[in-house]
Formats: sequence, C-alpha cells, structure tokens
Amino acid sequence: MNETKRVIVARELLPAGHELLAERFQVVDGGLDSTRPEVLDLARGASAIVADPSVPVDRELLDAAGDVLEIVANFAVGYDNVDLAACRERGVVVTNTPDVLTNATAELAVGLTVAAARHTSDAERRMRAGEWKGWDPSAFVGTELSGATIGVVGMGRIGQRYAELMRGFADEFLYVSRTPKELIEVKLGARKVDLEVLLAESDVVSLHLPASPENHHLIDRTALAAMKDTAILVNTGRGGLVDSDALAEALETGVIAGAGLDVYEGEPEVPERLLKAPNTALLPHIGSATGRSRDDMARLVAGNVTAVLAGEPPLTPVDLG
Ligand code: DGY
Repeated sequence: MNETKRVIVARELLPAGHELLAERFQVVDGGLDSTRPEVLDLARGASAIVADPSVPVDRELLDAAGDVLEIVANFAVGYDNVDLAACRERGVVVTNTPDVLTNATAELAVGLTVAAARHTSDAERRMRAGEWKGWDPSAFVGTELSGATIGVVGMGRIGQRYAELMRGFADEFLYVSRTPKELIEVKLGARKVDLEVLLAESDVVSLHLPASPENHHLIDRTALAAMKDTAILVNTGRGGLVDSDALAEALETGVIAGAGLDVYEGEPEVPERLLKAPNTALLPHIGSATGRSRDDMARLVAGNVTAVLAGEPPLTPVDLG
C-alpha cells in the first residue's frame, strides 16, 4: 500500500474497483449517505477523488482537496457534475467510464421505448393496485413500434448501439450529431438531419447526448410542440436536456403520446407533475445498472486512478480542452 496517497470515494465504489484501489492506496469512503460537508472534509489531502453523477466536483471541493489532488475519476460516462475548467486550471486529470456501459444503457433505452409506447408502467401500477377488472379492448392501447421512424439525438456510442438494437422494430432512422456517422448510415440507412426535421418526422425521439450548458433544455415547450402528437420521448442521457415542466404539460395535454425517462433535473427529486403524468415510464437513473457494466465501470475507475497516481497516462481521460 502506498500510504502517502489518499484516495477518497465521495459516495460508493463497487468492490470490483474498490479492492484494486485498497491494495495500493489509503482509500476512505464517504458512503451513499455522505453529506456535502462530510465530502469536503474527507477530501482534504486527497490525491484522487472518486465521484459519481450526484457529486458536484466544483471549485470548493477541488480547493478542499488542495494541491496534492491529481485526478477526479468519475464513476460514470457523463461528467456534467465536474467543473472541467476548474480541473484544467489546477492541472487535475478527469476520467470517465465510456464503452463499458454502452450496451447496458442502450438496452435500457430500448426498454423505456417499449414501456412508453405500450403504457406498461401505468398498466402495471393499476394492476398492482388491484384495479384490473378483466380484459378490456380499449385499456392501455399503445403505439406499435414496427415500422416506426426512430430519431436519435446524439449519435455517440450509446446512441449508435440504441439505433442498432431498434433496427428490429424500425424502418427509418434519423439522427442529430455534430459529425456524420458513416458506419451507422451504411448499416441502418440512417439520415443525419437538423433537430427540427427529426422532431417533426420521428415516432420516437431518444436522447443520447452528454449534458452541457449549450444543450440545457434542448427539449423545451417549442421542441415538444414540434413533435408528432403520437410520438414518444425517451431520455437516458441527462435530466437537464429536457424542460420537465414543459414535458409534464405536453404529456398532460396530449402534445406528445408518452415518455420514458431514466434521468431528471435535480436528482433524486422528481417533479410531482412528472410522477403523475400519463403514459410515462419512469426509472431511477439505472441506465448502466447491470452487474457486468457496473463492475467494469468500477474497475475502470480504479485503473484510471492507479495509472495517474503512478505517473502514467489515464486510460479514459476526459478532454479538458
Ligand atoms: C453515466 O455513466 O453517465 C450514467 O448515467 C450513470 O448510470
């Protein structure tokens, strides 16, 4: 064990990664219920901070760690919780966990797509509440996905995998991306279009973008109004991509037909209106939650910390610009 290097886990790192770190470093854990003051206190003198999407890594936390801090290893592919500019200024490396959660997250997005299209959450809730009175030809009548046009906003790794998996249902794929994705165009005949076109023509709009200040509330009242009233919105990216008030209103008033959500602004709070909105499948941010994916993510976190604290390049660095 390298006693001089202190690694703090702001909340929790699974044993697959934790054990690797504990062999080499002094690892201190905040735990899932750690408060902000506890995390700040824990961070003092840390060479590495292991964070997750619910841990804001801001100037205050970086300053609490001080000059010895070398790396912020995020236990997630998304890193909108990390102030990249502040890390860059301090020469702190930031890493994330790409690739290993691609299948898990894309598969969950497919599940949410089907759930939203077929109203499975409402149906199950009513049945569990003892409200099922028997087969009813007009109850929970949803949308068939076969032959649908799928709109993928953000054609990175997860967006591409989602599109591939949806090929079993869909006839046509539209996508929005900064750069053309030749492979997916060849494989699926996907067309790169502007967001306006995608919103107007898609039966499913699925969000696979990292959150940034530029795309905050990308899906707002105007965007929702531009969608078909038979369309559904799926979000496994980040909550901030969608204006949740506008979405709740769109679901209540039939502006769109349904939604499948795994992420929310201000998690773990979920707006009451969304909890009550019709034709909405809601999950508590479990996109990457498969055993394989989470263990691989934890190992990747450990690999990044170990590399950087040994003076080697990180395995999966975030570009700090
Ligand atoms: C990620 O890795 O960004 C996921 O949202 C965590 O489940």
